[in-house]
Amino acid sequence: MAKKRILTGYRPTGKLHLGHWFGNLQNMLQLQHEYDAFYFIADWHALTSDWQHPENIQQFTEEMVLDWCAAGLDPEIATIYRQSDVPEVAELMLYFTMVLPMPWLERVPSYKEQRAQITEKDLGNVGFFLYPALQAADIAIVLADFVPVGEDQLPHLELTREIVRRFNSAYGDFLVEPQAIIAKEGARVPGTDGRKMSKSYGNSIFISDEPDEIRKKVMSCLTDPARKLKTDPGDPDICPLHQIHKLIGDPDVIEEFDRCCRVADCGCVAHKKKFAEDLLGYLGPFQERRRELAAKPGFAAEVLAAGASKVRPVTDDVVGTCRELLRLDPATALSANIEKRTADTEHLPESHPGFVDVSDATASGSADADDAASVDTVL
Ligand code: ADP
Ligand code: TRP
Repeated sequence: MAKKRILTGYRPTGKLHLGHWFGNLQNMLQLQHEYDAFYFIADWHALTSDWQHPENIQQFTEEMVLDWCAAGLDPEIATIYRQSDVPEVAELMLYFTMVLPMPWLERVPSYKEQRAQITEKDLGNVGFFLYPALQAADIAIVLADFVPVGEDQLPHLELTREIVRRFNSAYGDFLVEPQAIIAKEGARVPGTDGRKMSKSYGNSIFISDEPDEIRKKVMSCLTDPARKLKTDPGDPDICPLHQIHKLIGDPDVIEEFDRCCRVADCGCVAHKKKFAEDLLGYLGPFQERRRELAAKPGFAAEVLAAGASKVRPVTDDVVGTCRELLRLDPATALSANIEKRTADTEHLPESHPGFVDVSDATASGSADADDAASVDTVL
């Protein structure tokens, strides 16, 4: 039986950090062996928010290929490509905009939050508003069954399912409704300040940071805020340092830090030093492989070119069928016209058999995070 398909994408807006590494990349590594995997770099998505500064996108794209491959994604197994190498994605997004009611986009939580919180960028552009429609096209264009992502992406996944349902009910049951795959651990990796680790918060430990930089960041990492003195007992469950350490440390060492923190037997500085050394040991082999790949001229460009030639036949096929469903396929339209003229009939073409009136079909759909929980697959 053919393998099910998975797809996920990252925006090339900076280097990869431990949130990406544990929140998503570890799933991607495992899943590439179990599924027909499509992993892409969402450079158009980066442009929607950074349209005033496109100059870094190319470099971040190449660095992401290096990070991914050094982490163990294998371009011989997974299809690794760049979004803008597949123009059909933009075409499918355009078709989605035909069936997509504006209020569905207006209530996407990340849209509302980012418009309110990000003041240093101009996000009033239509491209940014259409971000989730483009994401839906990324997913639907390979008929992906599953999408491994961090928790924050669930509303986008739910919206994708709603768009697909609406498209299918309008034009024929063709596109696939995808399900999210969320990491069991690491779904929300905290940053050095305790908030979600994110490039935009300046609280990230990047997986390619130099050892000194990693030590510095770890030493500045927040621990249990209520534990002021070494003699105060602490709560490791609310300590961001402990949460990240748990993801990489030897279970016996973690247990010991958990115990001694609770009874004030050890201080946070000792814990930080041990975590920094564990993290350096953990990332060492990755960093070594990354240096080797970076030394190969043209490595990233080759991976992306090979990925583009692997994904294009799939996307051509899917968009070809969508064109037919929308009565846009040039060959079909032409032959239909010729037949029509020859037969000299006055009939208008009939609707596709799958056509139903969508005016009230999914009007109650919503893109709220709460609704999304029902569709998740947790690894
Ligand atoms: P950022 O917030 O740093 O801009 P992205 O939006 O590029 O990160 O995220 C890429 C992928 O990594 C998404 O699937 C996202 O859910 C996941 N991810 C990012 N940060 C974290 C985190 N701190 N914890 C868990 N997953 C994360
Ligand atoms: N929105 C995702 C993020 O910010 C990136 C992305 C774009 C994506 N298209 C996608 C993720 C398709 C999964 C599937 O991280």
